[in-house]
Amino acid sequence: MAALCKINNKWKDAELKTGFVPTMGALHEGHLSLVKLALEHADRVVVSIYVNPAQFAPHEDFESYPRDIDSDLEKLEAAGAHLVYLPQEAELYPDGVKIDMDAGRAGAGLDADFRPHFFHGVATIVRRLFDHVQPDMAVFGEKDYQQLMVIREMVERQNLPIEIIGGPTMRDDHGLALSSRNAYLSESELAIAQQMNVILRDTPDPEAAKSALLTAGFDKIDYIEERWDRRLAAGWVGETRLLDNIKIT
Ligand code: PAF
Repeated sequence: MAALCKINNKWKDAELKTGFVPTMGALHEGHLSLVKLALEHADRVVVSIYVNPAQFAPHEDFESYPRDIDSDLEKLEAAGAHLVYLPQEAELYPDGVKIDMDAGRAGAGLDADFRPHFFHGVATIVRRLFDHVQPDMAVFGEKDYQQLMVIREMVERQNLPIEIIGGPTMRDDHGLALSSRNAYLSESELAIAQQMNVILRDTPDPEAAKSALLTAGFDKIDYIEERWDRRLAAGWVGETRLLDNIKIT
């Protein structure tokens, strides 16, 4: 943290613009595209890696969430990130892990109906990371669209001098949105998951889309709803929860 402050002050003195990409690691091309976008908008880019306990419920995958720091660091160096921030829990939560930020209006409904703690936990950690990194701009993926809206609203509400930019979703050859949790999918589950985007795109009626996803092999659909200019969905293939959204044209 002290080292981060020192470097940051040096950049500020030199009037260099700092960009920030917060992550939970297990980096894939989607994250690296966010770093690339940050590099286009800032002179220096900080990436944080921290698996935030406050955004996981006790029954969720905090313990098993994929972690691979060595490979992450290699990827970030190759991508051109200037600094990787690996905070310790005690730095971020000196008084113990607790939620002290409200996720606001954007954080109501949709995912919050199924993961009530989640956006409050995200808002809490992102606010703390912003305090540590002091960025001029930050990039969040559009794949987690509701999260992006929660952060935008928080920055506005708190009058933070940080520009928030949404990074387009990166997809595999079949259109599946890249996600660290895709690593949980078996080969047969992957083939099912790869139909999510196609069905969301081709089936505008939410009820019809829901039944098409179940027919394709999804085990459960948490929601398909339209908000902002998006059709957003979350569903389960086996033990893996998948999120996606598409722009409504
Ligand atoms: O999107 C994520 O990876 C996380 O929710 C974030 C923004 C890094 C906060 O922990």
